[in-house]
Amino acid sequence: MADLIVTGKRVIDTFNDYEGPGTIYMTGDRIEKFEKEYKPDTNGARVIDAGNKIISPGLVDMHVHLREPGREDEETIVTGADAAAAGGFTAVCCMPNTTPVIDTQEVVRFILSRAKEAAVRVFVIGAVTRGQEGKRLSEIGDMWDAGIVAISEDGKSVMNAEMMRNGMEYARMFHIPVISHCEDANLANGGKVNEGYNSTVLGMKGIPSIAEDVIVARDIFISRFTHSPLHIAHISTEASIKLVKEAKEEGLDVTAEATPHHFSLTDDLLKTFDTNLIVNPPIRTTADVEAVKRGLKDGTIDCIVSDHAPHSPEEKDVEFNAAPFGMIGLETTVGLTFTNLVHGNILSEAEVLRKMTVNPSRILNLPYNGFAGDGLADVTIINPDLEWTVEKKKFRSKSKNSPFIGYKLKGKAVCTICKGEVVYEEDI
Ligand code: DOR
Repeated sequence: MADLIVTGKRVIDTFNDYEGPGTIYMTGDRIEKFEKEYKPDTNGARVIDAGNKIISPGLVDMHVHLREPGREDEETIVTGADAAAAGGFTAVCCMPNTTPVIDTQEVVRFILSRAKEAAVRVFVIGAVTRGQEGKRLSEIGDMWDAGIVAISEDGKSVMNAEMMRNGMEYARMFHIPVISHCEDANLANGGKVNEGYNSTVLGMKGIPSIAEDVIVARDIFISRFTHSPLHIAHISTEASIKLVKEAKEEGLDVTAEATPHHFSLTDDLLKTFDTNLIVNPPIRTTADVEAVKRGLKDGTIDCIVSDHAPHSPEEKDVEFNAAPFGMIGLETTVGLTFTNLVHGNILSEAEVLRKMTVNPSRILNLPYNGFAGDGLADVTIINPDLEWTVEKKKFRSKSKNSPFIGYKLKGKAVCTICKGEVVYEEDI
């Protein structure tokens, strides 16, 4: 007898290309059985009737910053996981720019032990170099033994191309991708926002789009040379997207992700001087935003990620140019994606869900296979038409640094089930 049953008229199982009615029977943390029928009157276990809402395999956010160890005042693994659950995610992948940096087996094991108390699954991404200093490789093999799913220097680029080559060759041995934050530090030169009309008029120090483009080009060259999987983090410029498109057409193992802020916001907003808009890579021009949307549509961009980056008010309530990069995103990603991409008639529901389920899962070799067979009991129920307002007081994240506070969105995760347990639920 199943412990938990979810039934509805609109299952979208992106792993098995199924769209239609369905009932999922969960026992413990596994899916016991899936039937292609809507059965609201099933007895004997807790039954969640999703009606017309979307039932999806649990969403995965492959790019978040959890701040533990080191900045537990901003986020912990447990609070970040709570925010993830409220945002509809049943798994997150945490970036290594913590203090200490995730560059040894010990730090990986520490995070995985803390993650046992978390509401959702936490997968760990190790740093490419020790301390993210770009001088020596991290203990990549040891970290892989402890369970990392990728390596990344996120927060910055590995500026030494030979070091990046070595990192990619190591990663290839373990069949894990390198996730590249692409920004040439010399070209960025301490800038805070996109270099262009707005930065000039407002007197803000700019980061030119070529800072991203040259590293995307370089890393594609290294990936081709080393035959290593390369995943481009938070892609944001028209030219970078063209480079990834060409790499894919050539058959290289190159994938990419985009954030909701890079398909929802332009640098015209900088005149508000809201420091929550300071993010890396910076929010860019209308032409870039359109290119991100086209890239999502034509498959150049495989994944949608939050790049959840909590910061304390002490850090963000400062003079514009002094604020650190980053905004929280776990609790607004589904809403912004449905509002701007689905209701904006850019992508279908199944297309956006693929970018938050099967695609990140395949890139990182996560153990998901949707609702067929003996899968993980991770399920997200989404009401695509629920209209809601982003409210600061409702964030479960410890940090509140979002430029989307006050935005009216359409589409929300209303129930999140991880390992067969309901970890978030509102009126269904
Ligand atoms: O805006 C950002 N914030 N971009 C990054 O790459 C790092 C992140 C952070 O850790 O705050």
